Amino acid sequence: MMAEITLEQIDKRYGNVEVLRDINLTIQDGEFVVLVGPSGCGKSTLLRTIAGLELASSGDIHIDNKLMNDVPPKDRDISMVFQSYALYPHLTVARNMGFSLEIKKRPRAEIDEKVRRAAEILSLSHLLERRPKELSGGQRQRVAMGRAIVRQPKVFLFDEPLSNLDAQLRGHMRVEIKKLHQQMNNTIVYVTHDQVEAMTLADRIVVLNHGVIQQVGTPLELYDTPANKFVASFIGSPPMNFIEGQTSGEGISIGDNIQLPLNPQWAEQASGREVIYGIRPENISLASPDAADAHPLQVSLVEPTGLSELIHGTLYGHDIMLFTTRRSGARAGETIFVALDNRRAMLFDSISQKRV
Ligand SMILES: Nc1ncnc2c1ncn2[C@@H]1O[C@H](COP(=O)(O)OP(=O)(O)OP(=O)(O)O)[C@@H](O)[C@H]1O
Ligand SMILES: [Mg+2]
Repeated sequence: MMAEITLEQIDKRYGNVEVLRDINLTIQDGEFVVLVGPSGCGKSTLLRTIAGLELASSGDIHIDNKLMNDVPPKDRDISMVFQSYALYPHLTVARNMGFSLEIKKRPRAEIDEKVRRAAEILSLSHLLERRPKELSGGQRQRVAMGRAIVRQPKVFLFDEPLSNLDAQLRGHMRVEIKKLHQQMNNTIVYVTHDQVEAMTLADRIVVLNHGVIQQVGTPLELYDTPANKFVASFIGSPPMNFIEGQTSGEGISIGDNIQLPLNPQWAEQASGREVIYGIRPENISLASPDAADAHPLQVSLVEPTGLSELIHGTLYGHDIMLFTTRRSGARAGETIFVALDNRRAMLFDSISQKRV
């Protein structure tokens, strides 16, 4: 059972509004692809287009090498869990989950077994006889997921399926979904706003902005080698720090005769180019005041989590964040000293926004 999905030159317009632009993407059979991007960038529209609930304005969709453009949703062998999920209000949780199999007239024992398995995975076993109105939002969301799992389709499309769960349950479900995928090996396209979910679940992440694919790659490819400033700022939490400057012979000039150290790989950059210097919070470390590479940071706020500290402050007038697993003892209003790991810093062209 192969389920490779190919999207070729997909455009989607509502009247004059262009929601998806020239989407080209091949999702391999069994691949777990996560779609991320800001609210309104077209993630749900792309999922609904793959499912056949929206028709693309132009372009082709193939699943398993078959052209799907005119195939109705029910014949695409896809299960979709919607951002706003609708359950059958008059049916119990168990029947909601097993309904697609009832329609297909599968034997009772098979339906019961599949529902039981799905309920176990989703921690719903104790709720099987309830009706949707007797459930919390997060429980309903899990029933919607159970309904999709029970069908065992070729392709799963998930639109923020864990958004209504508390942090702990979310962590638990994330592990279950990953295990489920390892067992079943279905093709999955998954939308989320959660950084950890995107990074840990995805074989590849697709970053979308204003309906345009910005970059496709493994989580670490996007983290370590973002194609542009948008991807660099979107992937990673806490986000990358950006400081505007210019290239110069000695480093990156950020005003008032201040130079940030030059990464050797930028040495051949022409001087005077307008750039944006990017450095992730974990690539700035606490330093002793007398270290040769120490820079002063005026601390404005410290956020301790127990595991780590996020220190906010200004570096030569630029707002930045520093992430450390050390306990700095720093307080708002103080000046501390920090070192920048220039080998991990990045440069972006100010005009094209592309990484240099
Ligand atoms: N039927 C419609 N008519 C006109 N515009 C629409 C329609 N449906 C969606 N849009 C617009 O298309 C854009 C993409 O919507 P979509 O729901 O795909 O975004 P999204 O990335 O899923 O956002 P979110 O993260 O908030 O769920 C939005 O700007 C939205 O307003
Ligand atoms: Mg959406």
